[in-house]
Parts: sequence; C-alpha cells; structure tokens
Amino acid sequence: MRVFSGVRPTGKLHIGNYLGAIRQWLELQEKEDCIFCIVDLHAITTPFHPKELQKNIFETAISYLSSGLNPEKCVFFVQSRVKEHTELSWILGTICPIGELKRMTQFKEKTKKHKKYVNAGLLNYPLLMAADILLYQADIVPVGSDQVQHVELTRELARRFNQKFGNTFRVPKILLPKIGAKIMSLQNPRKKMSKTDTEKGYIGIFDTPKEIEKKVMAAVTDPGKKIVYNPQRKPGISNLLVIYSLFSGKEIKELEKEFRGKGYAVFKKSLISLLITTLEPLRKKRKELLQREVYVREILNKGAKKAQKIATSTMEKVKQNMGLS
Ligand code: TYM
Repeated sequence: MRVFSGVRPTGKLHIGNYLGAIRQWLELQEKEDCIFCIVDLHAITTPFHPKELQKNIFETAISYLSSGLNPEKCVFFVQSRVKEHTELSWILGTICPIGELKRMTQFKEKTKKHKKYVNAGLLNYPLLMAADILLYQADIVPVGSDQVQHVELTRELARRFNQKFGNTFRVPKILLPKIGAKIMSLQNPRKKMSKTDTEKGYIGIFDTPKEIEKKVMAAVTDPGKKIVYNPQRKPGISNLLVIYSLFSGKEIKELEKEFRGKGYAVFKKSLISLLITTLEPLRKKRKELLQREVYVREILNKGAKKAQKIATSTMEKVKQNMGLS
C-alpha cells in the first residue's frame, strides 16, 4: 500500500500535528510504502517571510526525523523540488467547479483570518493537495480531521478524472486516528490546536520543560473539579485527558479512575511530567540534528529523487490519457 501525507512548514510542529498525523506515520512506515512531504508551496498561500521559509522547511525536516521518521523506511522530500505537483494541480483545476473550492471550510476560515491576503492560491489550495496525493498513486492518506474535506475532494477529483479520461489515478482512502484526530487549543478547547494560535494555545514538540509547565498550568479548564471525559460539557479537561491518554498509552476510563477525587492541579502536574519525559528525546534529537545540516539536506535530496521518478511516471500517464502527449 502506498501512503502519502504532508505538513506545511509554517512554524513549529505542535502535539496536535504529532498526535493527529505523525504518530500514524510512525506505525505505517514499518509496514507500508510511505511518502511524506514538506509542503512549502502550500505554506506560501498565507503571509510568510522569504527568509523564514527555508528555515522553517529545515526545521520541519528536523521535526520529522526527531519524531522518529526513518529515511531508510520512508521517503521524505520538499514539495517544490518536484515540479509535477504544480503541473497536475493546474490540470485538476480544469475538472473542478469553482463552487466546490469555495465551499471548503479551510478556505472560508483562512479568508476570514487573512482578509488582506485572499489570493487565488488559497482557493486552489485543495487542488494542489489533491495533486500531491494523486501524483503518488496513494492508497492511504493519514491526516487529522481538519483535512478530511480536502481528501474527500481529492477522491472525487480522482473518480471524475478516471471517468472522463480513463483509469489513471488510484482513489485514496482517508485514515484518521481513533482518538486524537482533533486536538484542541489549550486556550480555547472548542477550537482546534493550531500553529497560528497564540503560543499559549499549543505545545510545540520541542517546547522546553518550563514552557510545557507554563502552558499546561494556564490551560483553560471547566467549572467543577472532576476529571471526567465529556467533550460537550467539559471540553478543556476532556482535551487534556485525550492528550494524557495518547502519550501514556492508558485508556481514558483508566485515567478517570486514577484521578478520581484528586482535582485539576494534581492532574495537570502529572500531565506536565508525562509531557516533559515523552518529549525530552525529541528535543535531544533536534539538538543533535541541528549540527548535521549536510546529513539532513542529503536525506531531502535523496527523497526528492525517489519522489521525482514516481511523479514523472504518473504525469506521463495523465498527459497521454488527456491527449496532451
Ligand atoms: P497541516 O500542516 O496544517 O497539519 C499537518 C497534519 O497535522 C494534522 N493536524 C492535527 N491533528 C489533530 N489535531 C490538531 N489540532 C491538528 N492540527 C493539524 C493535520 O490534519 C495534518 O494531517 N493541507 C495539509 C498539508 C497537506 C497534505 C497534503 C496532507 C498538503 N498536501 C497531502 C495530506 C496529504 C495541512 O495544511 O496540514
């Protein structure tokens, strides 16, 4: 099975990215044919600084490696290195009504957030994402729940293209984690945790023990004292329980028992020490990798070469079937 997924290099990776997407990738790399992309062309649809972009791409590569992605077991590369992504994106745009793009939740949210930067790239974002996935003939796309709508559109575009021009693309399946598909902001547990949130709203995978402590202690909780899972009535504590459960491997039910009658402060302190110990190896690995820039760049170069081969072969098929060659 071919697996494809990606992350935008727009800032630090947070535990939402880690629990929603990357942890699934770690399992998949052990048994499937995995390709993971640093999607820099998606990152330029929202305001960015050219000087920061290369730094963020490099940081994202380091995040992949520190999290446990193994370049011997999977391919990873930077999107803009393989030109076929933009080429296929254009082609897919010709079979996609504008209404389908305007309907996307992420487009609506981002146009609200960046009122002065409502560019066509933001509208066409899902086309580029569909091109990423279809170019590699992916069977499985492991993502968090905020990307489901985009992958559904990808499936629709694949089916439409195949119907119009003959069988060309595999129709990919979405893979969501059973829990943790939507980790919420620590500051507003009714909103998803996001890289563009305030610093206090997310825990970066490389945050220091002090930062982790500060952010968890300041995390919004709910009225009452009980540690119980109830996302509707107690979204704050439920979100922390999900995070605790995923990092500890303990069931939420077990945690409710363990912390019965103990109150929020005890629970938060325990979560802090769990996060510090679990994320410590990632921070260490990052430090080490920052000294090995040539090694990291070499991995990205090798990844781009492997990705290029698959992309070239799919584009040949696409062009032939469409009468472009
Ligand atoms: P991005 O960079 O916003 O997020 C990367 C991955 O992290 C997941 N994620 C979350 N999961 C759980 N809780 C959260 N709070 C949370 N926030 C983010 C996302 O669902 C995603 O899986 N458009 C994509 C990148 C992309 C892509 C692709 C993904 C481009 N091309 C092709 C898959 C396949 C994005 O912006 O992800």
